Amino acid sequence: MRVLLAGGAGYVGTHTAVALLDAGHEVVLLDDLSNTSARAAERVERITGKPAPLVVADARDDDAVADVFDRLGPFDAVVQLAAFKAVGESTQKPLDYYANNLGTTLALLRVGIARGIRSFLFSSTGTVYSDPADLPFTEESTTSVDLSNPYSKSKRMNEAILEDVARVNPELDITILRYFNPVGAHESGLIGEDPAGIPNNLMPYVQRVAVGELDRIGIFGDDYDTPDGTGLRDYIHVVDLAEGHVAALERGRPGYDVFNLGTGRPVSVREVIASFERAVGRDLPQAVLPRRAGDVAATYCDPAKAQRELDWVATRTIDDASVDAWRWQSANPQGFATEVDGDAT
Ligand code: WQD
Repeated sequence: MRVLLAGGAGYVGTHTAVALLDAGHEVVLLDDLSNTSARAAERVERITGKPAPLVVADARDDDAVADVFDRLGPFDAVVQLAAFKAVGESTQKPLDYYANNLGTTLALLRVGIARGIRSFLFSSTGTVYSDPADLPFTEESTTSVDLSNPYSKSKRMNEAILEDVARVNPELDITILRYFNPVGAHESGLIGEDPAGIPNNLMPYVQRVAVGELDRIGIFGDDYDTPDGTGLRDYIHVVDLAEGHVAALERGRPGYDVFNLGTGRPVSVREVIASFERAVGRDLPQAVLPRRAGDVAATYCDPAKAQRELDWVATRTIDDASVDAWRWQSANPQGFATEVDGDAT
């Protein structure tokens, strides 16, 4: 298959590009570089030895998207990863989040359907589930658009749009992948998570403390109703997540469908930190802070449907993710701004 990866130079995008290329498919990366670097695309080519052309453009712009199809198409599939994804930031900038996270999907759908794509894969999130009583979340668990932040709401709105589009395009494969918490990095250490500014998420924050970029880890509350009092999440290795995209694209079944991509194994904040300390080989400075507004005690999935219907299962552990993330961060202390031997200057 020839696949257009919108947001393809990002954290999940680059790992998905590597997995697709390794599986014998072709990719084109479309990215506005608002939260990544062109070097990330070069590293994909270095890892795979295959072309991963990058087009720097705004995926909200129909003409820009059509130009990619004209110059580098035709495409069998579009994978829509182009979105802003910081929950906290989304509460401060709702308009930016709705304009970008909905606008990119609408433009990619208009052009992609007009140009005859067979599949449209959408990057969604496990935060669309709204009732903790449903844990572990299955694809049938309660969702809501009345969620705590514009980021998660924009993802649920996208899903509703795609369900309506599927009804009038029955031959189109529209697959929603609800990610839980992506962590880790490719084993090469050449690509990984490189958020701009101070990381919101736990694992990249721990990585920056381990390389000395940040002083200490803040544990947002240790008084939750969980075994060790800290928050429980379903951390999925980003390479497992990428392989889930390949499995979904290769399934290619017409119609609308939804899959959770997670491990089904909840892990606590303290367990993540302990895992990373084992990878680094030393204790990391940490302190318990007050709870973060909007956090829930626990969220994790039941991944049985993806295992059954995509023949896909997450095989990597939190320790694998810590070892791989540490290899990436220690080799790239400044993320993609770090020049590594063989990088184009
Ligand atoms: C994980 C746990 C925090 C930072 C986010 C997005 C969600 C999705 C997945 C894209 C929680 C604790 C965190 C820190 C901490 N992204 N924590 N100190 O909030 O589960 O979900 O990533 O789809 O949209 O919201 O991830 O990594 O921010 O938090 O103690 O410095 O770590 O309280 O228990 P979260 P997170």
